[in-house]
Amino acid sequence: MSLLTILEYPDLRLRKRAERVEAVDDELRTLIDDMLETMYAAPGIGLAATQVNVQKRLLVLDVSEENDSPMAFINPEIEVLDPEPMGYEEGCLSVPGYFDLVQRPRKIRVRALDRDGMPFELEAEGILAVCLQHEVDHLDGKLFVDYLSILKRQRIKNKLLKDKKQNLAS
Ligand code: NI
Repeated sequence: MSLLTILEYPDLRLRKRAERVEAVDDELRTLIDDMLETMYAAPGIGLAATQVNVQKRLLVLDVSEENDSPMAFINPEIEVLDPEPMGYEEGCLSVPGYFDLVQRPRKIRVRALDRDGMPFELEAEGILAVCLQHEVDHLDGKLFVDYLSILKRQRIKNKLLKDKKQNLAS
Protein backbone atom coordinates (compact mmCIF):
# COMPACT_ATOMS: atom_id res chain seq x y z
CA MET A 1 0.00 0.00 0.00
CA SER A 2 1.13 3.55 -0.50
CA LEU A 3 0.30 6.99 0.78
CA LEU A 4 -1.27 9.31 -1.77
CA THR A 5 -0.83 13.07 -1.99
CA ILE A 6 -3.89 15.01 -0.89
CA LEU A 7 -4.68 18.09 -2.96
CA GLU A 8 -5.26 21.27 -1.00
CA TYR A 9 -7.65 24.16 -1.53
CA PRO A 10 -7.59 26.27 -3.69
CA ASP A 11 -6.09 23.67 -6.10
CA LEU A 12 -8.37 23.75 -9.16
CA ARG A 13 -8.17 19.98 -9.57
CA LEU A 14 -10.48 19.79 -6.54
CA ARG A 15 -13.12 21.39 -8.79
CA LYS A 16 -13.18 18.56 -11.32
CA ARG A 17 -16.29 16.40 -11.52
CA ALA A 18 -15.57 12.70 -11.02
CA GLU A 19 -16.70 10.09 -13.56
CA ARG A 20 -18.74 6.99 -12.81
CA VAL A 21 -16.71 3.87 -12.12
CA GLU A 22 -17.32 1.32 -14.89
CA ALA A 23 -15.39 -1.65 -13.51
CA VAL A 24 -14.77 -2.67 -9.91
CA ASP A 25 -11.49 -4.51 -10.37
CA ASP A 26 -8.21 -5.12 -8.54
CA GLU A 27 -6.84 -1.77 -9.67
CA LEU A 28 -9.78 -0.02 -8.04
CA ARG A 29 -9.42 -2.11 -4.87
CA THR A 30 -5.76 -1.09 -4.65
CA LEU A 31 -6.85 2.53 -4.94
CA ILE A 32 -9.41 1.97 -2.17
CA ASP A 33 -6.72 0.49 0.11
CA ASP A 34 -4.32 3.34 -0.65
CA MET A 35 -7.05 5.90 0.01
CA LEU A 36 -7.91 4.28 3.34
CA GLU A 37 -4.25 4.21 4.38
CA THR A 38 -3.88 7.86 3.35
CA MET A 39 -7.05 8.81 5.26
CA TYR A 40 -5.99 7.02 8.47
CA ALA A 41 -2.47 8.47 8.25
CA ALA A 42 -3.70 12.06 7.79
CA PRO A 43 -5.67 11.43 10.10
CA GLY A 44 -9.19 11.92 8.78
CA ILE A 45 -12.60 10.25 8.76
CA GLY A 46 -13.35 10.48 5.06
CA LEU A 47 -11.60 10.85 1.72
CA ALA A 48 -12.92 11.21 -1.82
CA ALA A 49 -10.95 10.11 -4.89
CA THR A 50 -11.05 13.70 -6.18
CA GLN A 51 -8.85 14.70 -3.24
CA VAL A 52 -6.06 12.39 -4.44
CA ASN A 53 -6.43 13.61 -8.02
CA VAL A 54 -8.37 10.61 -9.31
CA GLN A 55 -11.56 11.56 -11.14
CA LYS A 56 -13.61 8.51 -10.17
CA ARG A 57 -16.80 8.40 -8.16
CA LEU A 58 -15.32 6.68 -5.14
CA LEU A 59 -15.06 7.61 -1.49
CA VAL A 60 -13.86 5.95 1.68
CA LEU A 61 -14.69 6.72 5.28
CA ASP A 62 -14.52 5.48 8.81
CA VAL A 63 -16.56 7.34 11.40
CA SER A 64 -16.07 4.74 14.16
CA GLU A 65 -14.42 5.68 17.46
CA GLU A 66 -11.87 2.90 17.15
CA ASN A 67 -10.99 3.47 13.47
CA ASP A 68 -11.82 -0.14 12.76
CA SER A 69 -14.78 0.20 10.38
CA PRO A 70 -13.46 1.19 6.95
CA MET A 71 -16.12 1.60 4.27
CA ALA A 72 -15.90 2.19 0.54
CA PHE A 73 -18.68 3.67 -1.59
CA ILE A 74 -18.43 3.36 -5.36
CA ASN A 75 -20.79 5.44 -7.54
CA PRO A 76 -22.65 6.69 -4.45
CA GLU A 77 -26.10 8.22 -4.93
CA ILE A 78 -27.67 10.20 -2.11
CA GLU A 79 -31.37 10.57 -1.47
CA VAL A 80 -32.53 12.98 1.22
CA LEU A 81 -34.92 11.32 3.68
CA ASP A 82 -35.23 14.26 6.09
CA PRO A 83 -34.31 17.70 4.72
CA GLU A 84 -34.39 19.30 8.18
CA PRO A 85 -30.95 20.96 8.42
CA MET A 86 -28.43 19.79 10.96
CA GLY A 87 -25.37 21.88 11.78
CA TYR A 88 -22.01 20.20 12.17
CA GLU A 89 -18.53 21.60 12.63
CA GLU A 90 -16.84 20.33 9.47
CA GLY A 91 -13.23 20.10 8.48
CA CYS A 92 -11.51 18.69 5.42
CA LEU A 93 -8.11 17.14 4.67
CA SER A 94 -7.98 19.43 1.62
CA VAL A 95 -8.55 22.51 3.81
CA PRO A 96 -6.12 21.77 6.64
CA GLY A 97 -6.57 23.60 9.93
CA TYR A 98 -10.06 24.96 9.27
CA PHE A 99 -13.35 23.98 10.82
CA ASP A 100 -16.70 25.66 10.44
CA LEU A 101 -20.38 25.05 10.88
CA VAL A 102 -22.19 23.66 7.82
CA GLN A 103 -25.90 22.86 7.62
CA ARG A 104 -26.96 19.73 5.75
CA PRO A 105 -30.05 17.52 5.60
CA ARG A 106 -30.13 15.38 8.72
CA LYS A 107 -31.14 12.04 7.27
CA ILE A 108 -30.19 10.45 3.96
CA ARG A 109 -30.15 7.16 2.13
CA VAL A 110 -27.10 6.23 0.09
CA ARG A 111 -26.94 3.63 -2.65
CA ALA A 112 -23.54 2.49 -3.87
CA LEU A 113 -21.37 -0.46 -4.88
CA ASP A 114 -19.02 -2.04 -2.36
CA ARG A 115 -15.41 -3.09 -3.04
CA ASP A 116 -16.65 -6.32 -4.62
CA GLY A 117 -18.93 -4.42 -6.98
CA MET A 118 -22.04 -5.49 -5.07
CA PRO A 119 -24.83 -2.93 -4.71
CA PHE A 120 -25.85 -1.95 -1.18
CA GLU A 121 -27.78 0.81 0.48
CA LEU A 122 -27.92 2.28 3.94
CA GLU A 123 -29.69 5.01 5.83
CA ALA A 124 -27.51 7.50 7.62
CA GLU A 125 -27.92 10.14 10.31
CA GLY A 126 -25.48 12.07 12.47
CA ILE A 127 -21.82 12.13 11.59
CA LEU A 128 -22.15 9.38 8.96
CA ALA A 129 -24.76 11.45 7.08
CA VAL A 130 -22.54 14.55 7.33
CA CYS A 131 -19.45 12.70 6.14
CA LEU A 132 -21.21 11.03 3.19
CA GLN A 133 -22.66 14.32 1.96
CA HIS A 134 -19.30 16.08 2.41
CA GLU A 135 -17.46 13.38 0.42
CA VAL A 136 -20.05 13.15 -2.36
CA ASP A 137 -19.73 16.94 -2.70
CA HIS A 138 -16.02 16.39 -3.41
CA LEU A 139 -16.94 14.10 -6.31
CA ASP A 140 -18.94 16.99 -7.75
CA GLY A 141 -16.06 19.44 -7.29
CA LYS A 142 -17.56 21.05 -4.23
CA LEU A 143 -15.88 21.86 -0.89
CA PHE A 144 -17.32 22.62 2.53
CA VAL A 145 -15.89 26.15 2.32
CA ASP A 146 -18.37 26.78 -0.52
CA TYR A 147 -21.09 26.84 2.15
CA LEU A 148 -19.32 29.64 4.05
CA SER A 149 -19.44 33.37 3.33
CA ILE A 150 -17.28 34.71 0.48
CA LEU A 151 -15.29 36.68 3.04
CA LYS A 152 -14.48 33.61 5.13
CA ARG A 153 -13.62 31.60 2.03
CA GLN A 154 -11.28 34.33 0.80
CA ARG A 155 -9.56 34.49 4.17
CA ILE A 156 -9.01 30.71 4.22
CA LYS A 157 -7.72 30.76 0.64
CA ASN A 158 -5.23 33.55 1.34
CA LYS A 159 -3.97 31.86 4.48
CA LEU A 160 -3.47 28.48 2.77
CA LEU A 161 -1.70 30.08 -0.21
CA LYS A 162 0.58 31.93 2.19
CA ASP A 163 1.34 28.71 4.11
CA LYS A 164 2.19 26.98 0.85
CA LYS A 165 4.58 29.74 -0.20
CA GLN A 166 6.32 29.54 3.18
CA ASN A 167 6.63 25.77 2.86
CA LEU A 168 8.18 26.11 -0.58
CA ALA A 169 10.61 28.73 0.71
CA SER A 170 11.77 26.71 3.70
NI1 NI B 1 -13.24 17.00 2.55
